[in-house]
Amino acid sequence: MQESRLKELLSDLTIEEKVGQLVQIPGSFFEEDFVITGPANAMNFTKEDLRLAGSVLSVVGAEKLTDIQKRFMDEHPHHIPLLFMADIINGYRTIFPVPLAQGASFHPALSKKAAEVAALESAYAGLHLLFSPMVDLSRDARWGRVMESTGEDPYLNSLFAAAIVEGYQGGKGADGHPALTEKGRLSACVKHFAAYGGAIGGRDYNTVELSERTLREEYLPSYQAAVEAGTETVMTSFNVLNRIPASGNRHLMRDILRQEWGFDGVLISDWAAIAELVSHGIAEDQKEAAYLAMQAGVDIDMCTRCYAGNLKELVEEGRIPETRLDEAVLRVLRLKNRLGLFEDPFKDADASQEKTYILCNENRKLSREAAAESFVLLKNEGALPLTDTDSTAFIGPFTDSARINGAWSIFAGEKDAVSIEAGIKNAGFSSKTAKGCLFSADYPLQGMGGKNADYLSDEKEEEALLQEAVRLAGACETVVLTLGELNIMTGEAASRGMLDIPSKQQRLLREIYKVNQNIVTVLFTGRPLDLREVSALSKALLVVWQPGSEGGNAICDVLSGKVSPSGKLPMSFPYCVGQVPVYYNELSTGRRYREGDPNKFLSKYIDIPNAPLYPFGFGLSYSAFAISEIMLDRDILPMGSGESIHASVTVKNTGEREAAEVVQLYIRDEVASTARPVRALKGIEKVFLKPGEEKKVSFAISEDMLRLYGADDEFRAEKGDFTIYIGNSSETENAARFSLS
Ligand code: GLC
Repeated sequence: MQESRLKELLSDLTIEEKVGQLVQIPGSFFEEDFVITGPANAMNFTKEDLRLAGSVLSVVGAEKLTDIQKRFMDEHPHHIPLLFMADIINGYRTIFPVPLAQGASFHPALSKKAAEVAALESAYAGLHLLFSPMVDLSRDARWGRVMESTGEDPYLNSLFAAAIVEGYQGGKGADGHPALTEKGRLSACVKHFAAYGGAIGGRDYNTVELSERTLREEYLPSYQAAVEAGTETVMTSFNVLNRIPASGNRHLMRDILRQEWGFDGVLISDWAAIAELVSHGIAEDQKEAAYLAMQAGVDIDMCTRCYAGNLKELVEEGRIPETRLDEAVLRVLRLKNRLGLFEDPFKDADASQEKTYILCNENRKLSREAAAESFVLLKNEGALPLTDTDSTAFIGPFTDSARINGAWSIFAGEKDAVSIEAGIKNAGFSSKTAKGCLFSADYPLQGMGGKNADYLSDEKEEEALLQEAVRLAGACETVVLTLGELNIMTGEAASRGMLDIPSKQQRLLREIYKVNQNIVTVLFTGRPLDLREVSALSKALLVVWQPGSEGGNAICDVLSGKVSPSGKLPMSFPYCVGQVPVYYNELSTGRRYREGDPNKFLSKYIDIPNAPLYPFGFGLSYSAFAISEIMLDRDILPMGSGESIHASVTVKNTGEREAAEVVQLYIRDEVASTARPVRALKGIEKVFLKPGEEKKVSFAISEDMLRLYGADDEFRAEKGDFTIYIGNSSETENAARFSLS
């Protein structure tokens, strides 16, 4: 529809219809036959709210959404179609590794392909908008939502943010917008804006206190990358920033997002985040909350009646000019128009494609490839790849479990996931298996739905499982131990104060170790854990995160040596929880400590090391790689010249196997008007090499990569000396220097 027609439509709408476009209703109401039922209606929505709503959350299925759309549009006074939105974080039904695992692949192009598959499966199921990518900088392993992010580095997060937005939407057209009318192109929704990952204590929804400089240099770049990639929507975060909750924060939403970055898309609140301005104590009631959110420029109220119940009155009282209401409504209508919903309100909903395309072999193959590339080999003392699977036993609660999807894989059946046991069969291993223990946690576990699931089993059953496992372990050469966090120990509202594996799994590890020291641990987790003991008692340690639909197959591909592990840590794994938050790109402080320095008065702990157990960017391979010294084509970069310095290395596969290495470029600004990180990632390249093969990897270093918010708050590079590091982890000392003159 032409813009002029959109504006005509807008001017035809009653104020009730305008407000309706800004209201999002939970899908459950439409599932229950458009009936407003009792307990489900915690928000007291009315039938009128339902009749005029603009969008629906979390209902899926081609036939169901086609039926809802038809009936809804018949009843709507201007027949305006609904937007269907859902949380597709790492796939719709073909489940990919959790985003933290995808970050570990250091391969954004692979995540872009995964996003394309997720978008097309979701499109066939009738969806229009996916609530991802989540790009919150995550430095605190206690926070359950680190699994939804790609980790602790602003640059890596920015690469993945752009890749996933483009995977969902396609590239930007001449008008700066993607062609969402194309099949399988859906709107992305970058979240949670902003700095949700900075919660104090890693406690979900908690206070975030950041300087403007830290906010802008470390927390905002990934959201900005998503906006520059053309994301059509942004979601607000629950947290305060500078003591003002994001959903009421005009500085964040109007000054930065809309003015500075030029974002003109739709801004949707997180679930009930507008109503929560009341519990934050900055609004005395929902009417005030609605006022503050509209002033901040939040367009859609997710699943509360703040807007539905108050905007009309606020406009009639003149507190909200109707032009401001129109501004928000027009953005929503434009989004529907960009998706082509006025011409085709059912878009790509297709029941037959749903049956043939969803979980097809091609999609499974991509998921299997993405999973294998996400695994990080942290230790290997000759135990991997497995040489004799016949005399290898697979023991642990994950062995026969299909519960290997991330916590947000809400539309995927576990029956679709390939367990390790199934993977063993598919790979033709004749290995024996044993459970060893159940998924018992040391605290009551709640599923996503809040139901209190009891994973604590009875002692007798546990004892029998343990004894069977110990017997099996004593009778075989190698034990593959499958341990870690169950998916519902991670995700939203799953912050933890301890970072260890469940105590029953610790006991299993120790009892197995008594009878067999040839242990390969396969660790499932959604966050960095304290792996001191697991690592000490294992000959090899492979982190597989929450690998998704093809987890069992991918794990056997890597354990057997069919695929060499190539993942690198996207988050530092701490020595223990007391170190957290620990991250590589820290400031040096005035008293930087280096291991072994005897001086007492330095920034360090007296009882544990400063260094994490495993650092950012670290990961082993089945092969070996040599990275040459750095060659610079010049060592002076004239300021304002627009030129670049080219830093190159030669990477050679000096081992026996085809494998991949991730070459990482870090830069340190030696002296500036504000304290700088000891080093910061500025480039990555993943190279796949056959044995003996070598490749030249070159990075162009330009002035804009060196910019910072100086003491005068201006964002620009400052003259001086810089050190470049190029290597295969954040600890590389392969260095060279240049100056910005
Ligand atoms: C949740 C999450 C957000 C999600 C939204 C809709 O509370 O914070 O990431 O997209 O609500 O489910």
